[in-house]
Amino acid sequence: MVPSRRPTIGVFDSGVGGLTVLRALLDRIPDAGYLYFGDTARLPYGSKSAATVAHYAVGAVRYLQDRGAELLVIACNTATALALDEIKAAAGVEVIGVVEPGAEAAAAATRARKVVVIGTDATIRSHAYRRALEARQVAVREKACPLFVPLVEEGWVEHTVTEQVARIYLSEAFADDAGDFNADVLVLGCTHYPLIKPLLRRVAPAHVTIVDSAESTARAVELQLGRQLKIEPSPSSINDERRGVPDLKFFATDSAEKFRMMGTRFLGLPVEDVVHVDLKE
Ligand code: DGL
Repeated sequence: MVPSRRPTIGVFDSGVGGLTVLRALLDRIPDAGYLYFGDTARLPYGSKSAATVAHYAVGAVRYLQDRGAELLVIACNTATALALDEIKAAAGVEVIGVVEPGAEAAAAATRARKVVVIGTDATIRSHAYRRALEARQVAVREKACPLFVPLVEEGWVEHTVTEQVARIYLSEAFADDAGDFNADVLVLGCTHYPLIKPLLRRVAPAHVTIVDSAESTARAVELQLGRQLKIEPSPSSINDERRGVPDLKFFATDSAEKFRMMGTRFLGLPVEDVVHVDLKE
């Protein structure tokens, strides 16, 4: 990407998990400025109702917009699945969620036209991925995996307990007792799951391709910036030698120190400039 000026992108998540999406954005669009909001005081979103998630998410994206975000990325799968329409209605700028780009990538990857989607309880109950994939003529089996988020947050990304849990979830998700659901793609429909991708790779059936929406979301953001700011996407944007020091600011509703420590693990880069935010009801 060769920006004529540095665009400011707001990234919203319920906590630190969305840093996996920020990482993909940084790889693809290194020259943008990023404002990242993690609603760490109110997570997990994955067990909450649509009305509560929408209320929290709208407050957070307004905050990002007030600080200059020109484009909003909803990195949280749960917030995208439950509240994208409300967020779009409240925002004055373009909003990109992770479900449509994830479904697009999965539809491109499946030859069987059958995929398995895993996510939080709330994401799975919303059937947002099902709708997005069925609109692309892909059959879907959805499986909630609520234990993965706490296990990843505990740092147990290569732990025997996590592997056991994954074996149980995935054997249920890929069970093909009737012999008519031989899915060939697994969609990681949650911000935390990319951290256990190597473990899931070992546990999932060998023929299955794993798709996470972070990379395809970053591509969608790049295309939108091109339309919005007339910035030319460049195929060489990844590993571009002109890449400078990333311009990153973080806002967290719980302890800034805790965000710094956990965030560094999720982002794979030092998380430094963290401001604690108290969103008034
Ligand atoms: N960010 C959430 C998601 O992608 C996972 C964590 C949570 O439940 O808040 O669905």
